[in-house]
Amino acid sequence: MSDPLPLVVANHKANKTWDDLAVWLEQVSQAINDFQGTVVVCPSMVFISETSPKTKDLGSKLKVGSQDISQFEKGAYTGEVAASQIADLVTYAIIGHSERRQHFQETDELLKTKVQNAKRANITPIFCVQDENTQVPGGVDIVAYEPVFAIGTGTPDTPQNAKSLSRKLKAKGKYTVLYGGSVHPNNVKSFIQKGIIDGVLVGSASLDAEKFISLLKSI
Ligand code: PGA
Repeated sequence: MSDPLPLVVANHKANKTWDDLAVWLEQVSQAINDFQGTVVVCPSMVFISETSPKTKDLGSKLKVGSQDISQFEKGAYTGEVAASQIADLVTYAIIGHSERRQHFQETDELLKTKVQNAKRANITPIFCVQDENTQVPGGVDIVAYEPVFAIGTGTPDTPQNAKSLSRKLKAKGKYTVLYGGSVHPNNVKSFIQKGIIDGVLVGSASLDAEKFISLLKSI
């Protein structure tokens, strides 16, 4: 990947109204001028078309990502958003988050199609795995290790285990590896280590701008 590391991804999930998000974008954009790595915001799909121009207006370093991508290229798929429709608006797409696997029955086979669609639209997939045994589709460069027990629970994996998992993933492919699962301002530094864990995927602690800014400052 060409963006500088560490890579910090804010996954807002199904949270925030546009008004909340607009304030968040202003606050975070201002705070990251000196940040050496890359910060990506993944808002709800409905706000993506407003987020990209807003970050441009702000002269912001923030990159925009989607939380998912359709398995379909385009066509009669009510409710879906195809990669080609947001290709000009996002740089990254989270694919295979465990919440998608759990609540939307996403399978390895289907996720492979999503990765292909993202790549075709020139969107960089951030592919989530639960351990070193999760199948990673070809064409993926960024993998996020996200153990299910750590997501939204306040109980992260240990940095030692996360690093050992990351080494195993890197032995399988030339991946940029992120850790995700209860990352907070007070533990983020214990996870990121140059060449081992290249960044973090942050859910709950990314919602409040001040908390997220303090997380970025702790790096
Ligand atoms: P969390 O979520 O930071 O709230 O644990 C992480 C994620 O789901 O990506």
